[in-house]
Amino acid sequence: MPENHSYPLTVNGALPNDPNISATIIDTISKLNLSQMETENLSDYLFSTDFFEAPASTRYHLCCPHGLACHTLNVMNAIRPLSFQFGLDINRAVLVALLHDLCKCDFYETFSINFKERDRSRFGKDRVYTDYQGDFIWSQKRAYKVNEAFHYGHGEKSALIATTFLNLDLTPFECQAIRYHMGDFVNLPETSQVYAKNGLALALHIADLYASSSLDLSAEECEKYNILL
Ligand SMILES: [Fe+2]
Repeated sequence: MPENHSYPLTVNGALPNDPNISATIIDTISKLNLSQMETENLSDYLFSTDFFEAPASTRYHLCCPHGLACHTLNVMNAIRPLSFQFGLDINRAVLVALLHDLCKCDFYETFSINFKERDRSRFGKDRVYTDYQGDFIWSQKRAYKVNEAFHYGHGEKSALIATTFLNLDLTPFECQAIRYHMGDFVNLPETSQVYAKNGLALALHIADLYASSSLDLSAEECEKYNILL
């Protein structure tokens, strides 16, 4: 029997239908010791895009309305204890967590999808419904898909938005942390070298991984709580 190891971080995940998410994020921005221009640029950008309405993914973690803001808040909370462990400036760590997925703003769109009605209720068996003639019974639901308007990579685009559109005064290490936050999800051979030299990049990757795999609701949980699109 494998041992049951609990996670070392004790952070509770935010829920996407929590009406306080936007106020919490905006309040956090105001406490990050940014300049007034940076604070306004960042807050305005979040409200002028679909940041507070968009999902965090199309079909994985928090693939539901408000998922992106909820995931971002979970990463911001997850990086706080790491910043103490790693000896990082907590305000700058929370800032890069807030910025890391800006590339997903105005990135998803909705569409209708046809699916076969299934019976998942009986003893875990997955049975497709058919009508009396043996034809599948089809239904429709709304789903998310990616509609990228400006291809520039994932972390690269978030860093670009932060520095170019928002004029945030980020250090090269902060830009690098955002750029390399995906870890082994993108196949870059230099990633481990980056993490060896940049603790903020490693902390952001761990916080993002912890949030998306543990704090965020999964697609199944979104469906269970009926908060899908
Ligand atoms: Fe993320």
